[in-house]
Amino acid sequence: MKGIILAGGTGSRLYPSTLCTSKQLLPVYDKPMIYYPLSVLMLFGISEILIISTPEDTPNIKRLFGSGEKLGLKFSYIVQEAPRGIAEAFILGKDFIGDDKVCMILGDNIFYIQSQMKTYRAMVNEDNDMATVFGYHVSDPERFGVIEFDDNKQVISIEEKPKCPKSNYAVTGLYFYPSDVAQKASSLKPSKRGELEITDLNKLYLSEGRLNVIPLKRGNAWLDAGTPDSLMESSQFVQIIEQRQGLKLACIEEIAYRQGFIDKTQMEKIINGLKDGVAYKEYLQKVYEEKHDLY
Ligand code: TTP
Repeated sequence: MKGIILAGGTGSRLYPSTLCTSKQLLPVYDKPMIYYPLSVLMLFGISEILIISTPEDTPNIKRLFGSGEKLGLKFSYIVQEAPRGIAEAFILGKDFIGDDKVCMILGDNIFYIQSQMKTYRAMVNEDNDMATVFGYHVSDPERFGVIEFDDNKQVISIEEKPKCPKSNYAVTGLYFYPSDVAQKASSLKPSKRGELEITDLNKLYLSEGRLNVIPLKRGNAWLDAGTPDSLMESSQFVQIIEQRQGLKLACIEEIAYRQGFIDKTQMEKIINGLKDGVAYKEYLQKVYEEKHDLY
């Protein structure tokens, strides 16, 4: 399975912080925002990853990650010339996807789902012909794509930002699609706001009976860090968990090591490449020596 991180957009709700940097490079507590979606792809076992961003921000994201080799991953990059919608990612990524299944995650979405990872991994790999999205119970569904269920918990409809939401379940920014997604995305027409909508793509799969919706468990968290308040809340969320547990969320080097993307020698090389006294180095050193269980 291949992975896409969609990390473009205008970030206008975070103006002026996004005037000269990508939203996805702003810090969420102790690391860049984009580390969080990347860590989710890695936890799903995905190592071939396409990062899509703006003409201005792509060079900086490349400076951050390079080829991905250091983490045992393989990164490629494509520029989205203008924010023409989330579903455009699959048109831009057509050659990258090829005949594989693909997982796309939004660059400003933060998931705390480690505890259920095994279950979710099995579920998304169950049927190669099905698309899978995750639903999350939120207090303000009118801001999202909202899922309507029938009495048998089957999905009947998905509505983008409805005035009268039919449930509290929002579609999150983590999507799994079969390889025909590029072809399906190409058939979409721009919405009234001029974007290729991910909700329209999901509706196509729903109409063919090929959309699987997995409600995230109550103990899981899903946050998007796209506004000043949600960015602050995301930082606070990460800080509370990290300080209490003494374990980091989305530490990509740790995940690469524990998932077996890199070996001991490479982990040592990463640690030795960091300056003494840097807290992040001390954490990696601890992980390397203690090997406490995480997942
Ligand atoms: P949004 O938060 O909906 O849009 P935005 O990032 O442009 O922010 P704002 O509304 O404040 O102007 O986007 C969700 C994610 O998808 C975010 O990570 C950016 C990404 N995105 C793209 O990369 N390209 C696009 O065309 C769109 C619409 C979003």
